[in-house]
Amino acid sequence: MEFRRKDILDMASLSGDEIRMILDTAVGMKEISTRPIKKVPTLRGKTVVMFFYEPSTRTRTSFDVAAKRLSADSLSISKSTSSIVKGETLLDTAKNLEAMKPDVLVIRHSSAGAPHLLARRMKASVINAGDGMHAHPTQALLDMMTIREKKGHLEGLRLAIIGDIAHSRVARSNVVGFTKMGGHVVLCGPPTMIPAGIESLGVEVTHDADRAVEGADVVMMLRIQKERQQSHLFSSEREYAREYGMNAERLSRASADVLIMHPGPMNRGVEIAPDVADGPFSIILDQVTNGVAVRMAILYLVAGGVRHADTD
Ligand code: CP
Repeated sequence: MEFRRKDILDMASLSGDEIRMILDTAVGMKEISTRPIKKVPTLRGKTVVMFFYEPSTRTRTSFDVAAKRLSADSLSISKSTSSIVKGETLLDTAKNLEAMKPDVLVIRHSSAGAPHLLARRMKASVINAGDGMHAHPTQALLDMMTIREKKGHLEGLRLAIIGDIAHSRVARSNVVGFTKMGGHVVLCGPPTMIPAGIESLGVEVTHDADRAVEGADVVMMLRIQKERQQSHLFSSEREYAREYGMNAERLSRASADVLIMHPGPMNRGVEIAPDVADGPFSIILDQVTNGVAVRMAILYLVAGGVRHADTD
């Protein structure tokens, strides 16, 4: 199968075969990062622009590392250092970047749909590095790669996602991706942090964290996204930690070989106890390592020389 997709915008638009192809390619890419010389010439002569309207540590750095390991030229622009602060629109900014002939634009934006808008207007491949509360496809892909690496498969696994589901693009992308690959998702959080009607996505919903963890193969903890909340959605961090935080006692209800995940950044002592974050079941740093591999795979698949169906 050839990968003929120009852009990576969300998990909903990727087929099961495309997801498998990205994950399989990422497994091969991961080996490159273990070599003494961590560089291959695959994307020599290609240019990757990273445009981040919101803060990022993991996503931006790992795209940069991924591009450099494939020998692409990469450069990074942030909102605060660009002419956006002088009033230039997203579309004008994109047109100006396009005029410099990049091959890939990686964008993070606070508005849902911003990457989709650019993808329709630009010849360059557009990769969504997180748009508002909508989607974070490369995070879901690295999460799925990490689970598959540890468990050997995704089908039939029970994934509990606990926290601020309503404001989480990571939760949405994992729900879509994980269910597409045959997994079962349980969403858990305070009623104020679970969107109404989300069961229609084929997930189970509970407000009881002990119940969510019961028999889970994988537990993914999410940060409370205060920056996206219009009002206080819980009474205190101490109460939140007691009701929804992951601690060793609560985790003991999960399956014996449970995996504990977090996309980062973590608020230790709120949604996750330090001894769980750093404990034997935690694969949080494996997620970060696999983030480089997944992003190498994506850059290779969209810019590696295959002609795209929609630009042929
Ligand atoms: N998981 C994630 O998106 O982290 P950053 O915000 O640091 O990129």
